[in-house]
Amino acid sequence: MNLRIPGPTPCPDDVLQAMAGQMINHRGPEFAQTLRRVTDGLNWVFGSSSDVLSFTTSGTGGLEVAIVNTLSPGDRVLGVTIGSFGDRLKSIAKTYGADVVTYALEWGEAADPAVIGKMLDDDKTIKAVLVTHNETSTGVTNPLEAIAKEIRARDRLIIVDAVSSMSSVPCPVERWELDVVVSGSQKGWMVPPGLAFVYMSERAWAANVEAKMPRFYFDAGKTRESLAKLQNPWTPALSVYFAMDKAFETMRAEGLEGIFTRHADIAGYTRDRVKKLGLKLVPVDEKFASNTVTAVWWPEGVDAKALNKRAREEFGVVLGGGQGKLDGKIFRVGHLGFVQKEDIVEALDVVEKLLGEARV
Ligand SMILES: Cc1ncc(COP(=O)(O)O)c(C=O)c1O
Repeated sequence: MNLRIPGPTPCPDDVLQAMAGQMINHRGPEFAQTLRRVTDGLNWVFGSSSDVLSFTTSGTGGLEVAIVNTLSPGDRVLGVTIGSFGDRLKSIAKTYGADVVTYALEWGEAADPAVIGKMLDDDKTIKAVLVTHNETSTGVTNPLEAIAKEIRARDRLIIVDAVSSMSSVPCPVERWELDVVVSGSQKGWMVPPGLAFVYMSERAWAANVEAKMPRFYFDAGKTRESLAKLQNPWTPALSVYFAMDKAFETMRAEGLEGIFTRHADIAGYTRDRVKKLGLKLVPVDEKFASNTVTAVWWPEGVDAKALNKRAREEFGVVLGGGQGKLDGKIFRVGHLGFVQKEDIVEALDVVEKLLGEARV
């Protein structure tokens, strides 16, 4: 199978083999060493000089960690949304009682940093801004560095969903002065689902002292205390840690620059090829097109579900569909993590063949 959804992504064989390892004492010395190495790897990729926390959960759990550990019910927050994951982050905040104001864009567009700055100037009670780095549903990457500058200049918290960007495209948390940043193991990390990673800045930890939203399993303070003893408060997904430990060997050998360049090259090829097929990208301005997932409009009149089914059943190519209001209208090609150009060539050859037949 050529699994081209934007996560879970395929895993290298050595990662899968590492996961087959026998269970160990999660409070013993062996796991302590694994957790240290994995945390060092996370710190390296996030660009953090303090320890990035890991939680046994999926990306959404990581987003919940971010919200409940820094906010209180009634806190006013600005939810910037350019697609379904921006909506989700807002929903989590709302569920826990935050007073959410929204900056929503048409799906396919990126957020304008200047608008965010103005909204913060107009409403000094906004305590935090929620923003998606890479909107997986539309294949758009927000200009996060510029957005962060606007927010930092006004001294509010910046909470970032980097689930489908971190480890594939640059997102240096300290250099960009971000406060809470979340990723998930099944995306660019080349590892199965099961772990979420959460960076918290000094400002975020200061907010944590005041934050009154309810939390137990997802208590970042407890997780940080346990991490100091090289443990997790609860029983962690040991096999996924074994996988991360192995994946970091490959990532370190390739180097961050090498990883980012590979993603940029493959994404560039994907966009060029799609345009050559006469198809239109979902991102309105290609400058903001994602290097981890390419979203493409199906041409009018094409039976998208039938084409997706044929791609999977006849050619073993699994494309991502559209989410929410884009269901049946777009397809998405994931190109993050363990991916080479040949995988995309094969997937788009199939799209070309099926579209050719459909047009006839
Ligand atoms: C940008 C983004 N945020 C959040 C999530 C949610 O992660 P999960 O499905 O692991 O809970 C995803 C997963 O697709 C994502 O791409």
